[in-house]
Amino acid sequence: MMKKNLLMVLGGIAAASISANAAADAAADYMANCNSCHFAPIAPALQAPGVGDKAAWASRIAKGMDALYDTALNGSKVNPVMMPKGGSSLSDDAVKAVVDYMVAQSK
Ligand code: HEC
Repeated sequence: MMKKNLLMVLGGIAAASISANAAADAAADYMANCNSCHFAPIAPALQAPGVGDKAAWASRIAKGMDALYDTALNGSKVNPVMMPKGGSSLSDDAVKAVVDYMVAQSK
């Protein structure tokens, strides 16, 4: 079930990558690398905070941005599904910019 959801979403990523502007901005980086798990309708099934889901983000935002950057860069210490950089090859700065984007959409 979870695997099937992920596979369905991978198709969405491919489509999003093609339509994304060539400019590597945070929103495009998010769509290409993070939306597969953080897309709000899917996220709860993965125990990930969905972007735009204020309730899911409140306690995380309360930890402070440094804690969120740390999880995003180094992976979650409690849930291995959140891999370092979400499994992407983005630069550290690009990952942080995506975290800023996700938080801005979710508070
Ligand atoms: C394979 C699924 C998956 C992908 C891809 C993914 N995440 Fe996550 N993410 C998760 C899960 C699951 C959690 C919850 C982890 C936890 O509770 O510790 C999470 C949590 C987070 C958090 C909250 C961390 C905290 O300390 O509360 C941030 C920020 C985050 N992800 C950023 C990103 C960014 C940025 C990307 C893309 C570069 C990304 N994620 C890609 C699954 C994913």
